[in-house]
Amino acid sequence: MSSMNTDAGMPISITLEPGVYYRCTCGQSGSLPFCDGHHQSGEHTPIRFEVKIRERVYLCSCGKSHNQPHCDGSCGVALP
Ligand code: FES
Repeated sequence: MSSMNTDAGMPISITLEPGVYYRCTCGQSGSLPFCDGHHQSGEHTPIRFEVKIRERVYLCSCGKSHNQPHCDGSCGVALP
């Protein structure tokens, strides 16, 4: 990770190295936006995603995206 934008209601822009990541969906993680295992079983499960090359990704923080965990613009923010 090199940088992160965590403004509420905006996609979280973050540069990630290749690897497998788990997006927290319960909000209890101490490592947001990533899961650290704090979720209770059942209701909230982390969303697994993979990054193949070092790249900037835009993670949804509004819950409206149809392409979770990625922002799809449903929030009204135009992605670069
Ligand atoms: S932040 Fe949710 S769709 Fe953009």
